[in-house]
Amino acid sequence: MRIVALTTLAIAATLFAPAAADDRKWLPLAKDGIHDPASPALRLKQEPAEALSKLPRDTAGNLVNWVKALDSGAIAPRTNILPETNVRVRDDEIIVSKFGSLPAVVFPHRPHTLWLDCSNCHEKLFVSKAGANRFSMQKILDGEQCGVCHGAVAFPLTECNRCHSLPNEVLMRRMRK
Ligand code: HEC
Ligand code: HEC
Ligand code: HEC
Repeated sequence: MRIVALTTLAIAATLFAPAAADDRKWLPLAKDGIHDPASPALRLKQEPAEALSKLPRDTAGNLVNWVKALDSGAIAPRTNILPETNVRVRDDEIIVSKFGSLPAVVFPHRPHTLWLDCSNCHEKLFVSKAGANRFSMQKILDGEQCGVCHGAVAFPLTECNRCHSLPNEVLMRRMRK
């Protein structure tokens, strides 16, 4: 079952591979199928192309690399509304999958905690203990685990190497030390 599913996945990845960034355009609001083209309010809104084209480019999703946008200072979203909110950032990286057919999966806390609160993930979605969760690519593709956000509000699942980012040889070398 698992092998069949993962083969399908590899094929899906080829089929849905994103076109190069420059081949794609942000749709005007009047043509995006979401906004009413007849609405007079449309003139008051900023067009996505005008806003997003100024941000660091990506090759997938909405074509903005949001991690770079934040790190470079291109955007500076407000971290909290209430002054008493405790904003927490965590810096460690956790290898959540080792020795598969693909490079190992590294989960970095930093880019996540710059956008999210710990409670978005802990303890319901993931137990906060390295190795305590059983991840599955199939579940992720079904919109669970990492797939709750990736493919929905964060970079899409077609970007395999952004999660599968640690080559097995490098991992082996690190473990021998
Ligand atoms: C959002 C992060 C993320 C993305 C993007 C992602 N994966 Fe995964 N993948 C994981 C995690 C976490 C696991 C660990 C679960 C496991 O070991 O079964 C995994 C496991 C796997 C496995 C089984 C273990 C292995 O390494 O052989 C395969 C195969 C796989 N992914 C293929 C892909 C392919 C192909 C893509 C791109 C189309 C992809 N993944 C994109 C997070 C991701
Ligand atoms: C986007 C989801 C997400 C967010 C947000 C998040 N974490 Fe995690 N956290 C994870 C994942 C995934 C793991 C790895 C679990 C595993 O290996 O099974 C983890 C692991 C941990 C661990 C275990 C580390 C270890 O070495 O055993 C701790 C502690 C932790 N998180 C605390 C936090 C705190 C504190 C915050 C907020 C500052 C936070 N996390 C925010 C997903 C998240
Ligand atoms: C609660 C939502 C959420 C969950 C769950 C989640 N992520 Fe993310 N992830 C984000 C957001 C938001 C970003 C930053 C925006 C972006 O890159 O699209 C991000 C960024 C990342 C990045 C950084 C890429 C870079 O450019 O530096 C990696 C790697 C990543 N996620 C892997 C994972 C893996 C692996 C899991 C599952 C173990 C996971 N994420 C679960 C929301 C989530």
